Amino acid sequence: MVVQNTGRLSGEAMNEFLSAQRSLAIGFPNPNGDATQSLKGKTLLVTGGASGLGESFVKAFAEYPGTAVIIADLNSDRGEELAKTLNSGECAAKFIQVDVTNWDSVTELFRMALTWLRTLDNKRTIDHVVCSAGIESEELDLTPEHPDDFLERNAPSKPPKSLSINVSVIGSLYTVSAAMKYGLGLHLADKGDKSITLLSSLAGYSGMSLRSDYTASKWGVRGLFRSLLDDAKSASCPVRVNLVAPYFVPKPLTAHRVPQLQQIGIKFAALEDVQAAVLRFMSDESVHGRAVGIWQGGPVDLGDDLGGEFGSAALRKGIEDGALVRGSAHVSKRRERL
Ligand SMILES: NC(=O)c1ccc[n+]([C@@H]2O[C@H](COP(=O)([O-])OP(=O)(O)OC[C@H]3O[C@@H](n4cnc5c(N)ncnc54)[C@H](O)[C@@H]3O)[C@@H](O)[C@H]2O)c1
Repeated sequence: MVVQNTGRLSGEAMNEFLSAQRSLAIGFPNPNGDATQSLKGKTLLVTGGASGLGESFVKAFAEYPGTAVIIADLNSDRGEELAKTLNSGECAAKFIQVDVTNWDSVTELFRMALTWLRTLDNKRTIDHVVCSAGIESEELDLTPEHPDDFLERNAPSKPPKSLSINVSVIGSLYTVSAAMKYGLGLHLADKGDKSITLLSSLAGYSGMSLRSDYTASKWGVRGLFRSLLDDAKSASCPVRVNLVAPYFVPKPLTAHRVPQLQQIGIKFAALEDVQAAVLRFMSDESVHGRAVGIWQGGPVDLGDDLGGEFGSAALRKGIEDGALVRGSAHVSKRRERL
């Protein structure tokens, strides 16, 4: 939203403004259909691209002709393996190890990525970036301690874990900054279509009890999304920025937890729906500033703006329809303990 210093909006003007914002909401499936024309020959960089959702975005993108993908991840074994598999097909793929919480590592990632792209085509830059690196947090320990024990203990206690905030918030901030400064070729007169997709979670809208580090990280990503909207897409910086917020998505690494979570009523979102939303963000040049939630039943524009009550109307409907469990597994776990 651009804030203009023109005084208060009348009721009628406000209604017009809200309805204009609501009209920007996107539907699924994509009415513009096939993404082949817009994605062929394009380049994608995915942080956290070696496994889980990130790996699925890399694989889906690599199916389009002439594409190049950069898999950026801490995990070199999985990343190298994935690049090897993709290179045996039509796509050019490169794994680059990165720690997104470290600025030097992130700038080195873009240096290596651009150097590699020049070996494919001297003018090639990155077209689309997806910030999927993330990490689960541990339960926040709020067990009260007796003040006598606390005062008499000499050893300092450990701080709560905050790695999720580092990876998701700092990592996305570093990746977005380096991409816009160096990676996307925004200095060029003929820039072409450029996009950045951020990975939040429905925990970034509804919260997840006792997973404070994770919840804060996903609200933080949303903050980054909201702040970038006007700056990106300006004439000097024409980048489309969108956000995807999945509910629980089963992946090979977490498949063992599915039955336990289903027992407490969690209805899983499909990986294919997350993929479809991210492909839509990359391929549809008209989509900017949209946040899409993914829950059972498919992707839903959350209306994360004034017109959509910053996602609360869509969230309420998801809860009413039974697609989302209000609270979380951790709420009932805590109640059992009390
Ligand atoms: N799977 C879900 O149910 C779900 C739901 C909502 C949101 N998300 C979000 O989607 C994103 C991907 O999650 P996932 O489920 O695929 O997890 P995942 O663990 O399968 O993949 C995350 C990847 O990030 C990499 N990574 C972690 N720290 C890193 C760092 N410092 N630098 C570079 N790479 C690093 C890991 O090595 C891993 O390959 C995360 O941001 C997560 O919060 C996932």
